[in-house]
Amino acid sequence: MAGQRRAVHGPTAVAVIWVALMLLEVSVDGRRLAAEASRGRLVLDNGLGRTPPMGWNSWNHFQCSIDEKLIRETADSMVSTGLSSLGYKYINIDDCWGESNRDSQGNLVPKASTFPSGIKSLADYVHGKGLKLGIYSDAGTQTCSKTMPGSLGHEEQDANTFASWEVDYLKYDNCNNQNANLKGRYKNMSQALLNSGRTIFFSLCEWGQEDPATWAGSVGNSWRTTGDINDSWDSMTSRADLNDIWASYAGPGGWNDPDMLEVGNGGMTIEEYRSHFSIWALAKAPLLIGCDVRFISNETLAILSNSEVIAVNQDKLGVQGKKVKSNGNLEVWAGPLSGGKVAVVLWNRGSSQASITVDFADIGLNSSSVVGARDLWKRSNTSAKGKLTATTASHASKMYVLTPK
Ligand SMILES: *[C@@H]1O[C@H](CO)[C@@H](O)[C@H](O)[C@H]1NC(C)=O
Ligand SMILES: *[C@@H]1O[C@H](CO)[C@@H](O)[C@H](O)[C@H]1NC(C)=O
Ligand SMILES: *[C@@H]1O[C@H](CO)[C@@H](O)[C@H](O)[C@H]1NC(C)=O
Ligand SMILES: *[C@@H]1O[C@H](CO)[C@@H](O)[C@H](O)[C@H]1NC(C)=O
Ligand SMILES: *[C@@H]1O[C@H](CO)[C@@H](O)[C@H](O)[C@H]1NC(C)=O
Repeated sequence: MAGQRRAVHGPTAVAVIWVALMLLEVSVDGRRLAAEASRGRLVLDNGLGRTPPMGWNSWNHFQCSIDEKLIRETADSMVSTGLSSLGYKYINIDDCWGESNRDSQGNLVPKASTFPSGIKSLADYVHGKGLKLGIYSDAGTQTCSKTMPGSLGHEEQDANTFASWEVDYLKYDNCNNQNANLKGRYKNMSQALLNSGRTIFFSLCEWGQEDPATWAGSVGNSWRTTGDINDSWDSMTSRADLNDIWASYAGPGGWNDPDMLEVGNGGMTIEEYRSHFSIWALAKAPLLIGCDVRFISNETLAILSNSEVIAVNQDKLGVQGKKVKSNGNLEVWAGPLSGGKVAVVLWNRGSSQASITVDFADIGLNSSSVVGARDLWKRSNTSAKGKLTATTASHASKMYVLTPK
């Protein structure tokens, strides 16, 4: 059970077995790991990611058009909109924050024309608002934009630089990698972060190339299972399906990542964005907002602020919900929550309105049981016995939490 999983800190040289808790501390390739015997998972023992990370990232909306003013204003907006108090804590700077060359000591340098105050100053600003700062680098010789150096061969120095700037999160991309061993490149940065003296969330972005779900749990706190998302229905739905394959590998400490949210960027309808957010929440995906929160619309804010949907994502059981049934384009996604509850999304991926039914026998409930059904978008309650049916518009979804009576 995920609830019994606990990060264990202690001497790395000795493997210690806690018989009662069935926990084992081991050292693999020199990295300190906590083994979760009951679920057969090895998780990075940095204490982070007990629930999926929440925050904002610059890439989906701004790509390389970023500067320190944008980061500061975004932090301000995350607070003024109430998003930060709902749990969106990480303010993550993506590619294009640095000079194209290292300094004479080999250090990465913030780009003087766009980040003149430096990253430490931004970290101070963001921390002052109770938020956390994330940064980006690449497990290659240059980042994907090719406007700045990557960290390959400089892992220790760069991890120490990020720690000295009081950075809290690293997204680590996979461009220009010289075909060097992939797992080795990511493990080296993982080790460097653990040695840096600062606790830093490690987000692997190797695009699902080497089935990271099967090994990255011992390396980082989240791993991309797909190539980049874009702001379209086809891209969003295909990311959801590709990510779903790996559901059983997710859990407290390490999460599958189908990429960041496009909600609010304009390429999908409100119903499509609501489906996007519902499925990401159910799948225990990182909830990283990707729109311009300084000018967020009321509709977008209402989607991202649904505290009951967020609560499904942040549920302490930490089991990824998955697609349990499909009938053509009509799909049932579901997963267990703590306290014997079950979260369900009825998703109509077809082109016309349709009625979708979930049979309780398909989602781990007794087929004769009666449940209270909370509609998380309508915020209304009904009860249901054995099954639940809802009429759902094209590309829309209904999301429920079922509580057995
Ligand atoms: C990882 O680091 C070790 C020690 O510095 C180095 O020998 C090895 O080449 C690195 N692996 C990769 C794939 O970069
Ligand atoms: C977005 O992604 C979809 C599906 O992955 C792809 O077919 C499409 O070409 C992409 N659109 C853009 C603008 O990159
Ligand atoms: C958005 O919501 C705010 C606060 O509830 C309200 O003052 C404003 O009029 C709304 N804007 C629109 C365009 O509906
Ligand atoms: C369902 O509940 C009934 C009544 O409580 C019980 O008799 C039955 O064994 C349960 N079935 C399953 C599959 O748990
Ligand atoms: C609706 O259901 C929720 C979740 O089960 C519960 O907390 C709430 O009290 C219910 N509200 C009403 C009005 O029954």
